[in-house]
Amino acid sequence: MIDTEKSWTWELPPDCGAQLSNDGAALLAQLLQTAQLRGFSARELGRVADHPIWCLTRPARRSDAPRLLLASGFHGEESAGPWGVLRALRDASTESLDRVHLTVLPLVNPTGFNAGRRFNEWGENPNRGYPSLAVEDGPPSREGRILLEHAELLLDAGRDGVLSCHEDVGVEQAYLYSFERSARPGAFSQALLAANTAHFPCYPDGLVDDCPIEGGIVFNHYDGSFEAWLMEQGALRAACVETPGQQPLASRIAAQAAMMTAFIALGGAKAAA
Ligand code: NI
Repeated sequence: MIDTEKSWTWELPPDCGAQLSNDGAALLAQLLQTAQLRGFSARELGRVADHPIWCLTRPARRSDAPRLLLASGFHGEESAGPWGVLRALRDASTESLDRVHLTVLPLVNPTGFNAGRRFNEWGENPNRGYPSLAVEDGPPSREGRILLEHAELLLDAGRDGVLSCHEDVGVEQAYLYSFERSARPGAFSQALLAANTAHFPCYPDGLVDDCPIEGGIVFNHYDGSFEAWLMEQGALRAACVETPGQQPLASRIAAQAAMMTAFIALGGAKAAA
């Protein structure tokens, strides 16, 4: 089981502009600056203990382009997600960004992130309690309530694809949860897994967190999470990617950024064709 009380912090790699992985202020200052340089607009969806939950949006060149939603930082000990967002916003080519309408929630749980602890300041899980036909799992966290207040905006933003970026601090291998409108994982799931396993060994078949996993993928598992909620509401496909917290932070940030870049490229591939 995951120790939700434990605080996890790591030394950041040198190019992050901060020393420790839980420096949310340094992260957000750079994120907002980079987002502006790359053509994103920033708005606050709401505040939790006076910390804004930021939403970054960047329009595609064509109005009928795919609409993608990327979210990160639900769990405070999963540092590589939000730092990976910063890396991805810096690295993504303008050409690939121009092909999609992209919405980014870079840090959903700022109080957890600053503490390096999984849940928010009140012990609530920001990635559970979303409305679900599959499970009874309320009520939502403070962060969840803010996201649900913007349900219409988020559903529209993630209509053609949702990527939720997580880590599993207990393991040394990469895996992901994915959702597709098919019986087996397709190109979307496999491309994200490949971007993850380029950096780490693949999680073995069996069980992960009580879920059956095969070929590194837990498939179409509805659990009251943010991404499962968006799928239940009609999103075309979604993934919750997990980098291994037992591996070096620099590799985890690189893997997260690579998966985000792949997600954007995959989403835009059809539009470019
Ligand atoms: Ni997580």
